[in-house]
Amino acid sequence: SGAGRERQVFQSKVGKTSLIMSLVSEEFPDDVPLRAEEITIPADVTPERVPTHIVDYSEAEQSDEQLYQEISKANVICIVYSVNNKKVPLILVGNKSDLVEHSSMETILPIMNQYSDIETCVECSAKNLKNISELFYYAQKAVLHPTGPLYCPEEKE
Ligand code: GTP
Ligand code: MG
Repeated sequence: SGAGRERQVFQSKVGKTSLIMSLVSEEFPDDVPLRAEEITIPADVTPERVPTHIVDYSEAEQSDEQLYQEISKANVICIVYSVNNKKVPLILVGNKSDLVEHSSMETILPIMNQYSDIETCVECSAKNLKNISELFYYAQKAVLHPTGPLYCPEEKE
């Protein structure tokens, strides 16, 4: 299970292009291209009155390098997943806890409660060696004793 397979699980055919096209044409597209053309929504038709430039990503048409370039230019990134196709448990890993005094758990817990797909969260520091074995223990536990409602063991290889 390399990076390529994980990217497949999370990003392929989840509906990224359909979401953009549905926004633009106000109807669900029957035929959807691999990648939507870049468009700018003019300021006067957005609720907050800001022009919004939308850039789609297609793994089939673009290289990792192009993806990194777009990410570095972006003001916001939407990570899309398909709710009927969640095959792996998600663990939120807050790394670099050595750089802050306080814990981020207060902000994280409401997110955890809202998104039932997130199995667990852990704050850690690679630098301070804090919670690292816990992180990997949680990852193992999520596979061995899944609690997520959408986990489908029969779909596992
Ligand atoms: P890639 O660019 O190939 O990674 O895919 P994508 O993430 O852009 O997904 P795309 O928009 O091509 O949609 C993939 C499939 O999901 C298509 O068959 C869509 O018709 C379908 N689809 C997209 N959004 C929805 C949705 O909200 N509901 C349903 N039922 N199907 C959807
Ligand atoms: Mg697409």
